[in-house]
Amino acid sequence: MAESRQEVMTPTAARELFPGLRDKVFLDAACVSLLPVSAAEALDRLRDEMLSCPHRDASAHHIALDRTAQTAREQIACLLHTRPENIALVESTTHGLQIVASSVSLEEGDNILIGSTEFMGLAIPWIPKQHRQGFSIKVVPHREGRLSVDDFARVADSRTRMILLSSVQWNNGFRADLSAFSQFTEEKNIILVVDAIQQLGAIDLDVEKTPCDFLVAGGHKWLNAPVGRGLLYVHPKRRDTLEPAHWGYLNVVEPESGWAEYFATPDIPPVRDYDFTGAARRFETGGTANYPGNVALAASLQLINSIGIQRIEQHIFRLGDRLVDALTSAGVEMISPTEAAARSGIVTFTLGDGPERDKQLLNFLLDRRILLSQRYTAGVGGLRVSVHFFNNEDDILALVDGVRAALKGRQ
Ligand SMILES: Cc1ncc(COP(=O)(O)O)c(C=O)c1O
Repeated sequence: MAESRQEVMTPTAARELFPGLRDKVFLDAACVSLLPVSAAEALDRLRDEMLSCPHRDASAHHIALDRTAQTAREQIACLLHTRPENIALVESTTHGLQIVASSVSLEEGDNILIGSTEFMGLAIPWIPKQHRQGFSIKVVPHREGRLSVDDFARVADSRTRMILLSSVQWNNGFRADLSAFSQFTEEKNIILVVDAIQQLGAIDLDVEKTPCDFLVAGGHKWLNAPVGRGLLYVHPKRRDTLEPAHWGYLNVVEPESGWAEYFATPDIPPVRDYDFTGAARRFETGGTANYPGNVALAASLQLINSIGIQRIEQHIFRLGDRLVDALTSAGVEMISPTEAAARSGIVTFTLGDGPERDKQLLNFLLDRRILLSQRYTAGVGGLRVSVHFFNNEDDILALVDGVRAALKGRQ
């Protein structure tokens, strides 16, 4: 039998799949990333199917559409080092966080901990409920832009039920010590909710090695998928014990005869004791869903998995090192932590004279089609550069040349 050889994709070859890079220097995957052509082609194939219904009948067509979810769950599971049964497809990070907030009930006197540099979206699903339900949200201060488990431990008490944590902070790219948070929350029986949207696709994250209760991420940043599809990982212990706030007919286990046969059975009742799935997809909408999102997310993830997350990580750190060195020698101030354990794909810097001057630099760079963002929380932030696997040394040089040119123009 002929040996089938799996093609290994390199970051350099993968760059060719991003036509959005041809007319600009794109360094903003932490905002909304570019789509690879492989994901656009997956969308085209789906569009053709929707235009023509190539199946024997529309029921088979619907079933095939729904199967797109499993392919996406498998690719996600591969990236997270877990099983597809632990993955639910959601609309966005916010949707995943809302599912958690509507499934976990807190009692009067309970509290949730969150770091002071977090993106506002983590706490928002809980904020309107806190006064009504009598729990509180405590903000744990950062130290020089870093969130440490020791500081969370100091603020935690016997009523702490949950920690909301971005594994990588959106403003300065600080990467938390997930293994320390994982250990602490496990010991104290605290629910750990991880927002991994600024990490997944760039830096490896293994939910078996660093367990958490829930992990959420939208697909449109470092996963290079379109907006409108994301993932929710649910730890098996929560999957089994938590009741989703909403149920839909596709959360029911498919009858042995298959759905098409079932729907064609004359005496099926509308109400019965249905057998709901125990898999994490019980937290999904449970009706027709975002099938275009499924196929594009699966294709974008397939690209990441075929390069290999370790190789992506190495590429990002190598380019990140170049960037940090070059920016530092250009005379700017680094905001992002530079120690290996706290690094990510995000490199934030400032000219050091306040946000207005940084904004001028941002506009100078944007005018030259060098794309990056300006972001802050709690006074921490600056100009945020996102280095991804599709970036190369020329992108880094273009940015640094742009910064040097802007500084020279001002002297
Ligand atoms: C850490 C973090 N979480 C959540 C979001 C928002 O995600 P979504 O639009 O998928 O809800 C962002 C967007 O910047 C973010 O940086």
